[in-house]
Amino acid sequence: MNAAPINQRKWWKEAVVYQIYPRSFKDSNGDGIGDLNGIISKLDYIKNLGVDVVWLNPIFSSPNDDNGYDISDYKGIMSEFGTMEDFDALLQGMHDRGIRLILDLVVNHSSDEHRWFKEARSSRDNPYRNYYHWWPAEQGIPKKRFSFFDVNNDAWEYDNATNSYYLHYFSVKQPDLNWENPLLRKEIYDMMHFWFQKGIDGFRMDVIPFISKDITFPELPEEYHGNFVKYYAEGPFLHKYLHEMNREVLSRYDVMSVAEGIGVGTDKALEYVAPDRQELDMLYHFEGIGIGLLPYEFKAADPNGFSLIEFKDLYSKWDAVFAENGWGTIYLGNHDNPRILTRWGNDSPEYRNVSSKMLSAFLLTMRATPYYYAGDELGMSNIKFDSIDDYRDIETINMYRQMESRGEDLSRFLQNQKITARDNSRTPFQWDATENAGFSTGTPWLKVNPNYTTVNVAAQEEDPQSPLNFFRNLIQLRKKELALVYGRYVLLDRDNPHVYSYIRHWEDTTIIVMLNFSASEANAHLEGLELSAAKVLLSNYPDERKGMDTLTVLRAYEACICKLNSANFRNNGET
Ligand code: NOJ
Repeated sequence: MNAAPINQRKWWKEAVVYQIYPRSFKDSNGDGIGDLNGIISKLDYIKNLGVDVVWLNPIFSSPNDDNGYDISDYKGIMSEFGTMEDFDALLQGMHDRGIRLILDLVVNHSSDEHRWFKEARSSRDNPYRNYYHWWPAEQGIPKKRFSFFDVNNDAWEYDNATNSYYLHYFSVKQPDLNWENPLLRKEIYDMMHFWFQKGIDGFRMDVIPFISKDITFPELPEEYHGNFVKYYAEGPFLHKYLHEMNREVLSRYDVMSVAEGIGVGTDKALEYVAPDRQELDMLYHFEGIGIGLLPYEFKAADPNGFSLIEFKDLYSKWDAVFAENGWGTIYLGNHDNPRILTRWGNDSPEYRNVSSKMLSAFLLTMRATPYYYAGDELGMSNIKFDSIDDYRDIETINMYRQMESRGEDLSRFLQNQKITARDNSRTPFQWDATENAGFSTGTPWLKVNPNYTTVNVAAQEEDPQSPLNFFRNLIQLRKKELALVYGRYVLLDRDNPHVYSYIRHWEDTTIIVMLNFSASEANAHLEGLELSAAKVLLSNYPDERKGMDTLTVLRAYEACICKLNSANFRNNGET
């Protein structure tokens, strides 16, 4: 039976989401920082990609300790990005082109410069005090909580004014909001209504599994010392809050919601997204991006690369979670991760284009909504800074300082950051070969990758074989072949260490996808499938395959998407 009866069709299941980091996309006023008018000037580019939804990283008022993930006014626009009039024009421009817009909902924490926090820290009996988590110092030092971005890795900050500590899972300027307080929750829901009434089409929910906490703040159980992320996720009332948010806000609009599913495993995923639970629509997990990292070291990539078998097993396991219920997402990178080309493909000039196209083929042919990060369609790659001075990201800078104070190996850290640092994916978007890649006439806030002279939109527009045009073709194919959206996923040739092959099957259509993840020729073992009548729908090499007899030999990073005769698939493979 097919997993998705027609009555379960939803626009957000069939959508391709294009993620824009506004700070790095296009600067319209020469201050070196991307802005809303910059995005407006590129709406036709976005439209011509064929994407359906744009997700913007936070655009709200912020002192930018963490590039907008520290919000000081949830209903204001960050001054560097423009004004509310600019936002309204951007939303209109998107809707005019049939593109939906989703914003970032950052409500585990606010900025310490938010009015609520300024009030809260002013006295213990201030009405906003309980919008945040406090620990009175007369009760002693609070039990250890680790912090992501604190120089001392300490999530409790002592605040002199009221002789108390406040909680901040992220930087000292990102105090955690207290979801136990119904007044806080109401403020958040009102704010969500404010944006929905403006017409936005959904939210991506930042670290949402962290909003519920054990507010007695007991000793962290020993087993969580190395994995505090898991402990922070899924507090006791999380699903009560998400259900309430759905009832009070989300269910009243035709919108989509996607959780940043930090710490969420396959065993818990449906608790967020099973439709009958009336919480959220989708979540994106963190397991995939953890593949190929060394244990016990901060974001260190294994020099031997990653295991494709582990990769296949993991994505197959996640596909199975949503085979009968709920809906999945697929991504390989975003603003918190390096460029997908460097991490999962091959960024050498020889293989850049072909491997980048192969990765796009993976993302656009899985049974899940693809979240595709701007710049990956060009094959942008990691900038690989040599010096800490080039980094702007609080995560890298504070971890460097922390390790420095402990006398740890900083050169090894910097080596690792060349592969894994977040700033690698935040470098300015590469529009053309003019100064600063056409991103800005001023000095960009983060250096432009020097490869912009060859890797840029202008150069790729005219080339039918470019990664950019391949991405466009993939989107058109996904729209034409509903099997690529809803079709059942069947992994083939599981033990092949180089080639990832799978079937997508829906109604009368069977599509086979073969992806060579290696820099050498490799065989796909597809015994039992009758391939002679197969038709190539899309391939990432210019000289497309003609006959199917050679189908099982794939060139370096070759991606081949073929349509089979369904009857053959049923006879040979279907269970
Ligand atoms: C996840 C966001 O994606 C990341 O960029 C941010 O630093 C943290 N949450 C804190 O908001």
